[in-house]
Amino acid sequence: MRIISTVAELKDALATQRDIGFVPTMGNLHDGHLSLVQTARRHAGLVVVSIFVNQLQFGPNEDFAKYPRTLERDCELLAPAGCDIVFAPSTEQMYPEPQQYTVHPPAELADILEGRFRPGFFVGVATVVLKLFNMVRPSVAAFGKKDYQQLLVIQNMVRQLALPIELVAGETVREAGGLALSSRNAYLDDEQRREAAQLHRTLADAATRMRADPADRENIERAAVETLQARGWRPDYVVIRRRQDLKIPAAKDSWVILGAARLGATRLIDNIEI
Ligand code: PAF
Repeated sequence: MRIISTVAELKDALATQRDIGFVPTMGNLHDGHLSLVQTARRHAGLVVVSIFVNQLQFGPNEDFAKYPRTLERDCELLAPAGCDIVFAPSTEQMYPEPQQYTVHPPAELADILEGRFRPGFFVGVATVVLKLFNMVRPSVAAFGKKDYQQLLVIQNMVRQLALPIELVAGETVREAGGLALSSRNAYLDDEQRREAAQLHRTLADAATRMRADPADRENIERAAVETLQARGWRPDYVVIRRRQDLKIPAAKDSWVILGAARLGATRLIDNIEI
C-alpha cells in the first residue's frame, strides 16, 4: 500500500489505471469505512482511499480543529482491508488557492435537515468530492448510508453533471447495541457511549410505529423528539421522509427515518430505511 500526499504523485501513480475504486474519508477510520473499502475492492482492480479533513464543510463553530486525525493508525487498518493507495493531501494540496468555484447542490435537498443545521455543509462536501473525483478519476466510488442526505447529494451531483462514476452505497455498520459507527463517537465519554445507542432505538421504535400507522407520521416524529429530550438529548430533528429525495412521503413511497441530536457536546446522526 502506498501513501501519497501530493496531487502530482497521485496523478503519476494512477496514470495508467482505469479500473479505480474510490472511498473518500476524513480519517479516524472504523469498520464502517473498512466495509466501504471492501465494497470498492469487489468493484475495482485498484482501491484508493482519501483521508482529508475538509475545512470547507465545517461551520465556524464546529469541530474542525478537534476532529480526530489518526493517519498512522488509519493506514495500519487500510492495508489489510484491501486499500492500494492512501491519498492524504495537506490543505495546501487540496486548496492551493482560495476555493472560489464551488458546487451548490439544490436547496430543496441540501438546505434541509443537515443543511439547515449546518449551513454550507453540502457545498463543502460536494465541492471537495468533485475535486477528489477529478484527482482520482474513479470508475466506482463508495459512500455510506449512515450519511444518508450526503449520499443523495452526491448521487444527484454524479447524475446531473454526468460524471462517469458508478456509486455504490454501503450499509451502516453498528455496534452490538445499535450505535452507528462514526468518527465522532470518539468524543463520547463512557456514560454517553452507553446512552448513544438510544438514538438508533428511538428511530427503530418510530419506524415500527410508522409501519403500523403511516397516517400518524407527524405524531410519531414528535414523540421521537420528545423521547430523546426526556433523556437529556438536544434533538435537531427526527423526520420520516421519502427515500429518494427526502420530501414529505406519501403512503405508497419508500421511507427513511432520519435523526440528528446532540448528546452533551457531540452531535450524532443516524437513519433507518423503513
Ligand atoms: O463523509 C465524509 O467523511 C466526508 O463528508 C467526505 C465525503 C469524505 C467529504 O469530505
